[in-house]
Amino acid sequence: MHHQIKSLLHFERDSQFTKRVLILSLPSAVLFLTLISLNLLSPAISLLCYAIIILFNMFSLFPISYELQSLRKYTYSLANEQTPDPQTMNLSEKDARELANAINSIHKFWKSQTDSLKIQTMSDAAVLDTLPDPILTLDSQGNITNCNQAARNFLGNDILSHNLDSYFSTNIFIASVTKVLKGKSRSESLIFHASEYNNRPIYAHITRLPWETQGRTTAVVSLNDISKALSLEKMQSDFVANASHELKTPLSVISGFIETLQTTARDDADARDTFLGIMKEQTEYMSALIEDLLSLSRLEMNRDKELKEKVDITEVIDDVVQALKIKAFNRSLDLTVREDKKIPKIIGDNQQIHQIVQNIIDNAIKYAQANSEVSIEIKNVAQIPSAPGQNIAAGKAVSIAVNNKGPKIDKADLARLTEKFYRMQVHKDMKIKGTGLGLSIAKQIILHHRGNLTVTSTSYNGTTFTVYLPVKQK
Ligand SMILES: Nc1ncnc2c1ncn2[C@@H]1O[C@H](COP(=O)(O)OP(=O)(O)OP(=O)(O)O)[C@@H](O)[C@H]1O
Ligand SMILES: [Mg+2]
Repeated sequence: MHHQIKSLLHFERDSQFTKRVLILSLPSAVLFLTLISLNLLSPAISLLCYAIIILFNMFSLFPISYELQSLRKYTYSLANEQTPDPQTMNLSEKDARELANAINSIHKFWKSQTDSLKIQTMSDAAVLDTLPDPILTLDSQGNITNCNQAARNFLGNDILSHNLDSYFSTNIFIASVTKVLKGKSRSESLIFHASEYNNRPIYAHITRLPWETQGRTTAVVSLNDISKALSLEKMQSDFVANASHELKTPLSVISGFIETLQTTARDDADARDTFLGIMKEQTEYMSALIEDLLSLSRLEMNRDKELKEKVDITEVIDDVVQALKIKAFNRSLDLTVREDKKIPKIIGDNQQIHQIVQNIIDNAIKYAQANSEVSIEIKNVAQIPSAPGQNIAAGKAVSIAVNNKGPKIDKADLARLTEKFYRMQVHKDMKIKGTGLGLSIAKQIILHHRGNLTVTSTSYNGTTFTVYLPVKQK
């Protein structure tokens, strides 16, 4: 009774309640009317009894109606993703309680299912975000339904629901996407140049999903910017072309002279001496070239080799200077070495560091103005100057500055000196021999040691190449 009074206080008008009470009381009304018409009961008593029945019906229907209302409210709030407390309902009817429990279990079951689905979707999205290439999903109309972080970085943050053709106008790409979306092809792969994105070459792969997703995602598009791979491929083929060309030139010179010696100059002793001299020079050039090519390939192979030797740079420089003394003397150059006190040993590859020093001092002697000074300065430095995009070791380092006098090298040439096979036109014109590989070999070794190479050139001071090598690798 107490519960019913409490319910009454919270009861909201149920539009169906009066109807239900009246329908339930209808058979009694019919019964009383029959009894009255048969004069078996007076109308006053009938009315009183009928009123009692109506009251009784109201009382017995009230809790059911109230609890139905509570259940309805409860279910609605669950549907609206609120989490009401089922205890607050105070259900007294057994059936209503069981119904509430059943609804609760269904709700719990679906909640756990949705939660695990949410977690799965989040981790799938996180996995997709770690991929470096843009990935997009499209609906059957070509609208973007989902994408990863790389796609947002590439095309913009608000790409969802936009059509793919608002980002790309390249016909062959859009045609391939349409073909897959219309079900005419299961998957398409192509390389196209994206005119909207600096004409970057892009490898695109479009796949139709194997299942129907009720008008949602139909196809997956992955885009891979292949400009780096293509430029690497071009560099490699340029390198092979250059190397072959460089080898072919002296070979054709030598074979030309052999032919002349076999025919027209057969009995000409003077010509023979001159030609043999040139042939010797050409073979020397060829073996220098082959030596440089072998150095490059060795460096390529040992790229991941751990550096662990203790190298005494001053000792290496002394060795190189000894070996190149005669060459300097022949050009009337004064070769001087100055060094800081206590130059530490560095961790690296002795033979490779020998090669850096050799190539750079050799250049200074070769390209210096005759009768001048070539100076080598070894110093301790606290830090290697940084260079964008290079992995340079932090901490103490040793610098080796090699200076030679001569005309100023202009900016455009300075930037290209370490390119493979690059030689300045002035030096080609002066017929100074060289393969154009020495500096690129030195640069590669320096990068391998996580050091740096800088060049400065002024008309007053000449040209200075400075090699920085870290004392420790870690
Ligand atoms: N100290 C320097 N002074 C002026 N120009 C230089 C100097 N060092 C290099 N160069 C220029 O840079 C070019 C590339 O040098 P690099 O050492 O790579 O090749 P090379 O000396 O021509 O050939 P190699 O070293 O293989 O015999 C040279 O041809 C030259 O034009
Ligand atoms: Mg050189």
